[in-house]
Amino acid sequence: MNEEPKIKSSKSTPDADPAPVVLEAAGVRKTYRLGRVPVRVLEDASIEVRRGEWVAILGASGSGKSTLLHLLGGLDRPDRGTVRDAIRHEGRDVSRFNNTELNHYRNRSVGFVFQFYHLLPELSVLENAMLPCLVPNRWIAATLPLLAALVGGGVGAAIGFFAGEGVLPDADVATDPKMAVIAAVFGVLGAALGVVLLQIGQVIGERIRLQSGPEAAASKATLEEFGLGHRLRHKPSQLSGGERQRTAIARALASEPGILLADEPTGNLDAATGRDILDLLKKRHDAGLTIVMVTHDPNVADYADRVVRLEDGRAVEATA
Ligand SMILES: Nc1ncnc2c1ncn2[C@@H]1O[C@H](COP(=O)(O)OP(=O)(O)OP(=O)(O)O)[C@@H](O)[C@H]1O
Ligand SMILES: [Mg+2]
Repeated sequence: MNEEPKIKSSKSTPDADPAPVVLEAAGVRKTYRLGRVPVRVLEDASIEVRRGEWVAILGASGSGKSTLLHLLGGLDRPDRGTVRDAIRHEGRDVSRFNNTELNHYRNRSVGFVFQFYHLLPELSVLENAMLPCLVPNRWIAATLPLLAALVGGGVGAAIGFFAGEGVLPDADVATDPKMAVIAAVFGVLGAALGVVLLQIGQVIGERIRLQSGPEAAASKATLEEFGLGHRLRHKPSQLSGGERQRTAIARALASEPGILLADEPTGNLDAATGRDILDLLKKRHDAGLTIVMVTHDPNVADYADRVVRLEDGRAVEATA
């Protein structure tokens, strides 16, 4: 039970020639409820992330590091304060996005890496790595079956009409109920066939995309760069911890996000494997990737350009 504010304020290091801010949390507050007891984890916490920076968020267990990173990644909303994506959404407040905008933000603007990988066990390494690119547009996903049913139904009804004329040459097409019944039956069959054909087409399209689409080529290249070229068809359960995390990082980078957010990416790995992961991130950072990484390990934080501390559960401060 803890009703004390755990994080009071934050500030970032002034920079002589600062790169533009790409992501910013300003005055965020987050309170959880444990039964009837409110637990305030963040109180007026602020952080600015500039393009090309590697920022480490360092703090003791329970100090709110994951909470802050989840707010930055749009995985949760603050009670108060703003989170602004200055790179792809013109500085708009992420916490006010609707679900479609949030999905886009989570899949395109930021890449998220979790301590425990969070890979989908039934998908292969390549499919997992491509996941952000495969998320369908909800509007299209909902509208396409309706369109297929309408087109199929219309074509079916027209065929039924002509078939009816063949079977009942003497019928009055405008008034004979038998004509209407035949057209309706063909219409329903046409609608059902339209939906079935759409689904078959989508499955085939998805397979082609997974095998040879541009997203597959990009994900394969990343996985090969990460030393996983020989593991593309394996399932996560067949991989080591380090290989799983490299797959998860490839997934986070699949949609070429502006920023990588990593929550203790080496926290579940032995020291040598953890260093491999950090070296891999460093290579990407040297090539321009902006990184925000949560850790409780000062040695891991050493990789960062700047450290923001959540200290004693009370203050966030930055050190050069
Ligand atoms: N969904 C939740 N419901 C209630 N309390 C929560 C919830 N998520 C986090 N907390 C509490 O908020 C506090 C901060 O949690 P958070 O996970 O952000 O800490 P952390 O700094 O990432 O810790 P660790 O280093 O152990 O991962 C903790 O006291 C935790 O118990
Ligand atoms: Mg945490």
